[in-house]
Amino acid sequence: IDSYEECRATADWLMSNTQVRPTVGIVCGSGMGGLAETLKEPQVFKYSDIPNFPRSTVHGHAGRLVFGTLKGKPCVCMQGRFHLYEGYPVQKITLPMRVFKLMGVETMILTNAAGSLNQDYKVGDVMIIKDHINMPGFAGINPLAGPNDDRFGVRFPCMSDAYDRKLRQMAHDVALELGFSDFLQEGVYCVLGGPSFETIAECRMLHRLGADAVGMSTVHEVIVARHAGMRCFAMSLISNQSVMDYDSEEKANHEEVLETGQQRAEQLQKLVSTMVARLEHN
Ligand code: 6GU
Repeated sequence: IDSYEECRATADWLMSNTQVRPTVGIVCGSGMGGLAETLKEPQVFKYSDIPNFPRSTVHGHAGRLVFGTLKGKPCVCMQGRFHLYEGYPVQKITLPMRVFKLMGVETMILTNAAGSLNQDYKVGDVMIIKDHINMPGFAGINPLAGPNDDRFGVRFPCMSDAYDRKLRQMAHDVALELGFSDFLQEGVYCVLGGPSFETIAECRMLHRLGADAVGMSTVHEVIVARHAGMRCFAMSLISNQSVMDYDSEEKANHEEVLETGQQRAEQLQKLVSTMVARLEHN
């Protein structure tokens, strides 16, 4: 678990190895790493070369940090992220958010692949995350647990405005212009620890608790980013319909998650890059 000074050291190491001073941070979810390939004049760092960074162990996650410009805006992009189920402490998987903050990032855009709990959603839909349910948080697994360092943020950060309203509105506007409205949804994302997928009973429970999609990421990163005062926008690519009924023969699997990512990837990239082009920073 990294102190302010260690986060600072990582940020300083990166800034001494690249001229890019990112104002936008992007996290690419499973099967959506192609977004990082669209950055202009990319400068790439393997996670294993970055001081204090954990390593990415999941197939479908490249494990590289890419700096460059997207629509002329300086960006840093995580091609592959860290998850609770890899066995890292939740404070470790969110380290990049603090490093980004110290490098000057003001806006975070995060993507993930998720299973749908909402019967109206179809595979391939993109869900703007409006709110989250931090299930591991109920059990005390919160990246802000432990001593608070006021240099990052307050002890008890508000989470009722975690997913920036203006950015969500911008996503709707951009999707309309690009002709993506027919597969765009907005809903509540629930995070679980994984790596096992949900049982039928768990899916039914989560649905009744108000979740529209379920996954294993993003929420921890958003909590740390909001704590540090960064604006957040997040969306889920619906890669499969969760199994909600005992007669179903369907089974969730990682291959399906990656395949759906590939099919929608280009449209998702277009949505993100158009949003980045319109971001305003002071
Ligand atoms: Cl069905 N469940 C979880 N927990 N994560 C997922 C998923 C399902 N599909 C993609 N990611």
